[in-house]
Amino acid sequence: MHVFVTGAAGFIASHTVERLLQRGDRVTGIDAFDFGYDPALKEANAKRLAAHENFTLYRGDIRDKALLEQIFDADRPDVVVHLAARAGVRPSLVDPTSYIDINMTGTTRILEAMQARDMTRMVFASSSSVYGSRDQGPFRETDDVSIPVSPYAATKRAGELICATWNHLYGTHTTCLRFFTVYGPRQRPEMAIHLFADRIRRGQEITMFGDGSSLRDYTFVSDIVDGVVAAVDRPLGYEIINLGNNTPNRLDDLIAAIGEAVGKAPIITQLPDQPGDVPMTFASVEKAKRLLDFEPSTPLLEGLKQFVAWLDENHPAT
Ligand SMILES: NC(=O)c1ccc[n+]([C@@H]2O[C@H](COP(=O)([O-])OP(=O)(O)OC[C@H]3O[C@@H](n4cnc5c(N)ncnc54)[C@H](O)[C@@H]3O)[C@@H](O)[C@H]2O)c1
Repeated sequence: MHVFVTGAAGFIASHTVERLLQRGDRVTGIDAFDFGYDPALKEANAKRLAAHENFTLYRGDIRDKALLEQIFDADRPDVVVHLAARAGVRPSLVDPTSYIDINMTGTTRILEAMQARDMTRMVFASSSSVYGSRDQGPFRETDDVSIPVSPYAATKRAGELICATWNHLYGTHTTCLRFFTVYGPRQRPEMAIHLFADRIRRGQEITMFGDGSSLRDYTFVSDIVDGVVAAVDRPLGYEIINLGNNTPNRLDDLIAAIGEAVGKAPIITQLPDQPGDVPMTFASVEKAKRLLDFEPSTPLLEGLKQFVAWLDENHPAT
């Protein structure tokens, strides 16, 4: 199988590319290297991938129509795994236009270029954020998602709808995977687990927004990659499928577990909730089990220990 992965140098995509290469697929990737966080981290991810002979990386933007056409004409991949995006809730309140442009125009550009070449299969990275502000779970794919509470969430819901339209008009198979807070080695540096672990191991204080009772369904990256690869292998028409851990944890419990994984007591400063934050995420994974044989298997503390080991090895505190 030949798979085209967008955002290939990013956190989840670099793990996905590695898994696909390990099982013998050919992978072509694209990444622009310049959105969201330190490009040096993405360069390090790209360097790992470059060691594989079945991997080709294009440096460029998914909104670049001519580049996409060049890649698709040269490589004709069987499946597109579309993970490139501006990711994260809070920065989307600061720069909503950039989110809308990259996440919506970018997704449309890819579908246009696919359609023009009769390429019919895409896996799209959506997000638990589309469920909006809720205090009851688990979240099911049939639940109402009409009120996204951040620009980021709105762009991810829009991406799902754009995929639905391409399925309706052109029969494009699009499996939209709603990822629930993904963590593990190479996690984006501004995400809570990365930020907290780094500061706790340095003996620095961390900021906890809210009273610590907010719940997140933290999901280890290798479990997410299991689901992505299963979706690569199965054309399903148009489907939306949660990929989560089905076990929400409180923020204060997460912080305590990070302290345990690091081996130091956290020093916590509490501030009010941030705009765009939601009280809970909690995935129902019944549909993922049924359609993708998805079975998340990494307990939080074990995943945190793997993350901390990666952090210490690749970004020593001293
Ligand atoms: N990490 C999570 O918890 C989480 C949760 C839900 C959904 N997602 C989604 O999963 C996907 C991957 O997230 P991640 O955490 O790995 O983020 P990431 O930022 O590490 O990866 C995204 C990659 O896309 C690239 N990119 C951004 N805009 C681009 C453009 N215009 N052209 C080419 N490349 C571009 C970035 O350089 C980056 O390497 C995203 O679509 C994100 O919205 C992530």
